[in-house]
Amino acid sequence: MTPAAVAPPPRPLIGPDELRAAVARLGAELSRAYPMGVLLIGVLKGSVPFLADLIRAIDTDVAVDFLAISAYTEGTGRVRIVKDLEGDIWDRDVVLVEDIVDTGLTATYVLGELRRRGPRSVEVCTLLDKAVRRLVPVSIRFVGFEIGDEFVVGYGMDFGERFRNLECIMAADVHALRADPNAYFDALYTR
Ligand code: IMP
Repeated sequence: MTPAAVAPPPRPLIGPDELRAAVARLGAELSRAYPMGVLLIGVLKGSVPFLADLIRAIDTDVAVDFLAISAYTEGTGRVRIVKDLEGDIWDRDVVLVEDIVDTGLTATYVLGELRRRGPRSVEVCTLLDKAVRRLVPVSIRFVGFEIGDEFVVGYGMDFGERFRNLECIMAADVHALRADPNAYFDALYTR
C-alpha cells in the first residue's frame, strides 16, 4: 500500500508587521495622490481586511463601495458581476482595491465595467501582485508586495472560504489543498 502523501507545511510569507507597514505606505501614497478625496471600490470578499485597514491609513476624504464577481466557469477567466456598486461613479476619482492580481483577467474585466460608467479616473491598488502569472497586462499604480508563483491564504485570501481570518499571509500547496481541503486545518487553526 502506498502511504498517503504528506502536505508540505504552510510557509509564512508576509507577517502582520510587514502588512501594517505596507498598508501605511499605501495609505500615504493614496492620500498624496487624491488630496481632494477618492472612492475606493473593494472586490468582495478577499479585499475586505485590506480595505478596512487601508481606509484608516488614508487621511483625505475617502468613500467606499463594493462589488462582487463570480466566475462563470471556474478557471476560464470569464467573470460576471453578482453584486453591483451601490453608487454612481460618474466623474469620480476611483481606485479599484484588490487582494491579489494573478492572471489579470478579473481586474481587466472589472476595469472595463468601471470605465464604461464615466469616472474621472480609475486606478488599481492591490495588496499582492503575482506578476509572473499575468495573462493580460494590467496597469497597477499602487502595489503592496510583488510575490512569485505561490498560492497564498490569509488576510482576506481563502481556499474554499477558509483562512481569510489569518492575520498574516501564508504560502500553501494548492495541490495538497485540492486533494484534501482539511490538509492545513490543524497547522493554520491552532485552537
Ligand atoms: P485573476 O483574475 O487570475 O487575476 O485572479 C483574481 C482572483 O483570483 C483574486 O481576486 C483571488 O480571489 C483569486 N486568487 C488568485 N490567486 C490567489 C491565491 O494565491 N490565493 C487565493 N486567491 C487567489
